[in-house]
Amino acid sequence: MKSSILVTRATFEEVIRELRRRFEVEDNQATDTPWNGEELRRRLADKDGVLTTGSDRIDAAVLDAAPRLKAVCNVAVGYNNIDLAACTEHGVLATNTPEVLDDTTADTAWALLMAAARRITEAERWLRAGNWKEGWKHDRLLGQDVHHATLGIIGMGRIGQAMARRAKGFSMRVLYHNRRRARKSVEKELGAKYVTLDRLLRDSDFVSLNMPYSPGAHHLIGADQLARMKPTAVIVNAARGGIIDDAALIRALKEKRIAAAGLDVFEGEPRFNPGFLELDNVAMIPHIGSATRVTRMKMNQIALKNLTAALSGRRPPNLLNPEAWPKRRR
Ligand code: DGY
Repeated sequence: MKSSILVTRATFEEVIRELRRRFEVEDNQATDTPWNGEELRRRLADKDGVLTTGSDRIDAAVLDAAPRLKAVCNVAVGYNNIDLAACTEHGVLATNTPEVLDDTTADTAWALLMAAARRITEAERWLRAGNWKEGWKHDRLLGQDVHHATLGIIGMGRIGQAMARRAKGFSMRVLYHNRRRARKSVEKELGAKYVTLDRLLRDSDFVSLNMPYSPGAHHLIGADQLARMKPTAVIVNAARGGIIDDAALIRALKEKRIAAAGLDVFEGEPRFNPGFLELDNVAMIPHIGSATRVTRMKMNQIALKNLTAALSGRRPPNLLNPEAWPKRRR
């Protein structure tokens, strides 16, 4: 008998077809409405596995309501939507989709960095609004130079490293801060210098957040940290909402205490702080860091591999809670 699975959000038809070959599938293709906790609990009551996204909260209450559940496979590298300890407690394997989205996410972060620095989205709005009446002007929409500037990367994992590689093409100086210092060989390859967070904030022209969210990282960048940055600095977040205190960032941007921000992620998204909408010095996009067809397909394929392995009694390649393996449900 086929295992029974839930796919919480609409995905590519070919992925659904492949899932149907392997499993009994309940999907969300028709409406793609995000399901709240109550809906998830109801739909997971008779499921063996689930493909989730970052917007599905998998906590102890959901797991309590899913007595057959063996695997939660996130189609994302980030997994702050999953309570890993609760999964382990319930003998449920949790997985993510690392590596395949590193370059795509770094491309997006880089696009935001350049857009915020050179006021690209603001300039387009200005143009579309019919404001271009006077020809060329010396001081129209002046921005910040990216080339030869200093990039400070907070979080030197794979995406942070991809940012550092891109910085080389712009002849930038690269500083970084990370929980653990990178190996000397990595620092050398990237031309990146390890510094304290304070020094990074003080010396960088661009600050890029490339770290996972954890309760310890909540509001890592708040009013104090923003006050240490240069008035010409640009901050970029393509990591997770909640790492920046958005209310503090809005104040800093409004008062021009920093020059600009490029944001792919927000606290409480999709209902982000409306204060951002009043500001010209923010380039913002709706959490599309990994959104290319090729990359999203790869993420789906990895999640499918993880799910198939877990439901056939094999250890999934991207297991996040190895402690659950000995006590996994069979
Ligand atoms: C991730 O993979 O964590 C992204 O944020 C989802 O696109």
